[in-house]
Amino acid sequence: MSGLTSVGGRLAVRLRSLTRPQAVVLMVVLAVVAGIWAAAGTGHQGLATSLVAVLLLGVLLGILHLSRWMGGLYRANQAANRDLRVVVEQMQRRVVGAVEKERLAAGDRHQELTRSLTRGLRQNGHGTDLLLRAQSREIEAMFQLFGEFTPRAPMPSSGDFALNPTELLELLHIVRLRRPQLVVELGSGTSTVWLAYALEKSGGRLVSLDHDAEYAARTRDQLAAHGLTGVAEVRTAPLSDLVVDGKNYRWYDVEKLADLRGIDLLLIDGPPAATGPDARYPAMHALASRLASVATVVLDDANRPDEQDAVRRWTETVTGLTAEPQRLGRHAVMSYSRSGAAVPA
Ligand SMILES: C[S@@+](CC[C@H](N)C(=O)[O-])C[C@H]1O[C@@H](n2cnc3c(N)ncnc32)[C@H](O)[C@@H]1O
Repeated sequence: MSGLTSVGGRLAVRLRSLTRPQAVVLMVVLAVVAGIWAAAGTGHQGLATSLVAVLLLGVLLGILHLSRWMGGLYRANQAANRDLRVVVEQMQRRVVGAVEKERLAAGDRHQELTRSLTRGLRQNGHGTDLLLRAQSREIEAMFQLFGEFTPRAPMPSSGDFALNPTELLELLHIVRLRRPQLVVELGSGTSTVWLAYALEKSGGRLVSLDHDAEYAARTRDQLAAHGLTGVAEVRTAPLSDLVVDGKNYRWYDVEKLADLRGIDLLLIDGPPAATGPDARYPAMHALASRLASVATVVLDDANRPDEQDAVRRWTETVTGLTAEPQRLGRHAVMSYSRSGAAVPA
């Protein structure tokens, strides 16, 4: 009984899921079957046979329709497969193209990286080479400096803010050759002590200006330790406003220079660049008239743009001031001649 109920249930579900045309075909088939059954039962053999023929014809047509429908399904399936294949192939091509592009880009990047690494290594090697050569030059200069003077106390160190041994050597060579009587230095430190030793030997005096009272005091202590206070003095000259060519600068208090006339050698190594742009440019404006008729002007740090610009402007505007040939150190040397007199070698 329960088996029958479950078969009935499944049948009901199937019947409910039929489409309208399927339901119509089923009704027609049932009607024809009922007609055959009724005609056969009432002895109408001819009608029953006709209805069986109609039923068979219907079944035949149904089979034909079904086979056409399945053929259509098969073709649609084939077309869908073809489309899918095309889509998959396109996707494969795109993926392969993207991977290839990335591979090429990675190759390019690799080449670029290799090139810049090689360049960096070469530059680094070149830099190390230059550094080694510069160091050797400084060591050689140091030997020559100490060969010429025997300091009476430990010398303050050179380099960094102070002049390098190469520059000190060239500066002292100028002192030995040109024998300046009055040397003025802007920016005191190690160079003050070396200059004082050179002037003690050649005969002359040094006035050094420092904007910073602490550094001025340190240099004074150094001069005292080396017994050079009779040759050199350090003046504290705080920075104050100075107008040059209509522009305001922070420069040494010019009052501290008021008594200085006939400067034979001027060393410009201050104020430090950190005190303002073109920090050293006012030097010639303030001191050109205080130079001796034949004098030498040395500007340190002439490898920097501000200082290069100052040398160009001074030699263009100060009559009688000309740049001497380039030296080994980073300083520029200029000769000054007010009367057009020849500058000593
Ligand atoms: C270029 S330094 C002068 C150096 C000096 N002509 C020499 O060769 O030793 C200019 C000024 O910088 C200041 N100064 C010196 N050494 C310094 C340092 N280590 N740090 C900061 N400022 C310094 C001092 O006031 C000095 O007058």
